[in-house]
Amino acid sequence: MKVTVYNFKGGTGKTSISCNLAMQLGWGVVTNDIYSPLERVLEKKKLLKLDYNEEVPRFPEDYNIIFDWGGHVDQRAVEAMEQSDKVLVPVINDFLNLQVSIDAINEIKEHNNNIAIIANQVGKGDAENIDKILSAFYDYPIFPIKKSRAFPAIFETKRSFQEMIDEGGLLAYSYKPVYDQFMVLVDFITSDSKKKKKGK
Ligand SMILES: Nc1ncnc2c1ncn2[C@@H]1O[C@H](COP(=O)(O)OP(=O)(O)OP(=O)(O)O)[C@@H](O)[C@H]1O
Ligand SMILES: [Mg+2]
Repeated sequence: MKVTVYNFKGGTGKTSISCNLAMQLGWGVVTNDIYSPLERVLEKKKLLKLDYNEEVPRFPEDYNIIFDWGGHVDQRAVEAMEQSDKVLVPVINDFLNLQVSIDAINEIKEHNNNIAIIANQVGKGDAENIDKILSAFYDYPIFPIKKSRAFPAIFETKRSFQEMIDEGGLLAYSYKPVYDQFMVLVDFITSDSKKKKKGK
């Protein structure tokens, strides 16, 4: 199973989401961001950072990979999207940000229409606004993820949400709501891969 996490817009949470998904699922990450902070957290064998002109390998069917992808649609982005089962597009509730995200979705759907939107860093009313704007254009599923200190903590503490929760205590308690939202996304991704394995 392969998933591309993509948006042209920077800073929407692509790398944080990719990293936490990879840790949760034990998958590898391939990125076109040569400055990616992922190597701080992921084991060497679980990360492939592509150099500027390095091609995206065509990975075997049974490889489980997340493509953490930024920048405009080029041949490499197309290669990542075409071999992915899904494309996740993290967006933020901000007018300009959403405009760029809509441009991104319009290009992405030309290459892979199996899109899910992540309404990221949401506070009060943000998810509703994202839903209102995007559902005028699309009917892709939208997964809200709260604004939470648990995200920077992934890189600060080199731990996944799961590890933070398993540790228990007050932090675990305060991260539980965002963990639960994240697990809805994880279920969405893996329920499809289970169906695939059964040949449905
Ligand atoms: N749900 C969230 N709550 C709080 N902070 C978040 C959340 N998601 C991401 N962040 C923070 O937002 C910043 C940008 O996140 P990240 O680097 O994952 O985005 P990106 O889309 O990969 O950015 P770039 O385009 O630079 O690669 C980081 O500081 C990260 O900790
Ligand atoms: Mg990134």
